[in-house]
Amino acid sequence: MSNDTLEKAKKIAAKWGKKPENIIEMMHDVQSEFNYLPKEILEIISKEANVPIAQIYSIATFYNAFSLKPKGKHKICVCMGTPCHALGAPKVVSALERELNIKCGETTPDMEFSLDISGCVGTCGLAPVVVINDDLYGPVPATNVKKLLKKYGKK
Ligand code: FES
Repeated sequence: MSNDTLEKAKKIAAKWGKKPENIIEMMHDVQSEFNYLPKEILEIISKEANVPIAQIYSIATFYNAFSLKPKGKHKICVCMGTPCHALGAPKVVSALERELNIKCGETTPDMEFSLDISGCVGTCGLAPVVVINDDLYGPVPATNVKKLLKKYGKK
């Protein structure tokens, strides 16, 4: 690990006063800085804030906002709540898997796109809904997936 990375991790812990009660905030900062939670960084945060690493991992796996695997530059999330599911979300996922040549939960080898599913995002009137980074789209028929990906630079 580079000194730069080490410094960043220590800075994040210091920003939150190295207090164990601020561990989630620290993890959020790590996630936005690195786009996921790298193991080495979590180990530093664990030492700095004096929170057992096992506890950090259990928080990381509990909250959807955290990822222990590197994510793509564009994070695609297909809503799988009941209305979206009923209106074709599984077909949208299959179309995305085909276009990106990855399975749901994976990231493309060029680190451009990652694909995941989520629970209801609260806009069921637009079902089926796809969220890409901070943009929400709906209704998205499976046949529109290619066009949608083009917007994000997919050739
Ligand atoms: S079920 Fe998809 S937005 Fe509610």
